[in-house]
This record gives sequence, structure tokens and C-alpha cells, in this order.
Amino acid sequence: MILEITQYGNPVLRKKCRPVAEVDDDIRKLAQDMIETMIDAQGVGLAAPQVDRDLQLAVVDVSHDPECISYLRVNGEDVELAQMMPLVFLNPSLEFGSEKESSTEGCLSIEGISAEVRRPTEVKASLETLDGTKIVVETDGLLSRAIQHETDHLNGVLFVDRLSAAAKVSIRRKLKRVGGPR
Ligand code: NI
Repeated sequence: MILEITQYGNPVLRKKCRPVAEVDDDIRKLAQDMIETMIDAQGVGLAAPQVDRDLQLAVVDVSHDPECISYLRVNGEDVELAQMMPLVFLNPSLEFGSEKESSTEGCLSIEGISAEVRRPTEVKASLETLDGTKIVVETDGLLSRAIQHETDHLNGVLFVDRLSAAAKVSIRRKLKRVGGPR
């Protein structure tokens, strides 16, 4: 089922989301609906607050571009990207490499705005999956960026919060138009 995507200005996007304590049918259905909603909206990721649920649950899928990462390890083993996509994760905890890079980001909750965001290139993400296992995902490139962007959502943080001062000024008017004050 395709869900409505909450838009900038909706307070749910600013919540610190609750950890998912138990994966039940409701969570499994929500995850499936979020995957369908992400695909329908042609996004590479979607977090639960974007469908009005303050839970630490997100989905990402960057399989449209197999070249978008240079490596992917799960629990220390090399894994094919396609094998892990779409990735549904709960209760993430992230560690970062020291190198940073800038790339263009947008967000399904902030229509019509994209900007350069500087983030750590590499991430080491401790994640829980729908089958109740814990995995450690290490990667770079777009998958690293997507995991960081979605995990930000679970903490009430949006990509526009992470822009340089100059970039914030240049999109301020546009942001006011889409969602009122921030
Ligand atoms: Ni987003």
C-alpha cells in the first residue's frame, strides 16, 4: 500500500523516534508499505517519520546504480549490493570514517529542493533487521549517504540542517514556501 509522505513543516519530521522494541505484523506491514511508497516516489530511501510514524525504522534502495559504492561488507564479509537491497533497518547506530565528501541530496519530504551536503564518506552501521538479527554494514558512496540521511530522519534531523551557512541562506525563501518556519 502506498502511504502519504509527510512534508516539511510537519512536526513528526522533528521527532526523536522511538526504538522498535519488537518486530510484529504491524512493523512488517509498515516496512513493506514504506518500500512500495519509496519505489512509487522514485526515492532511494524513506524513514518512518516520513509516513507519520515516530519509529526507528527506515528503508533504502540504491540498486539502480551498482557503481554507487566501492565496497559493501556485512558482518565483515564482502557482499553484493543487489543482495542487500532493499535494505530495511531498525534502531541504527552509526560510526563514521574521518574522510568527508559533498554530494547533492534531496528528500521526499522537501519537494523541489536539493543541495550539496557534506558527510563522512564511510559508515559503519549497526542495524537490526526485520528477522530480529543484528548486522554490521560497512560501506561508502551513495549507500553510506542514504543510511546517514535516513538515520538523521530518525533523530528529527533533515538534510537542510546540514548545509553550509551560505547554502542555508540561498534556500531559505524556498523552504518558507514549502513548509513555513523552521
Ligand atoms: Ni529524506
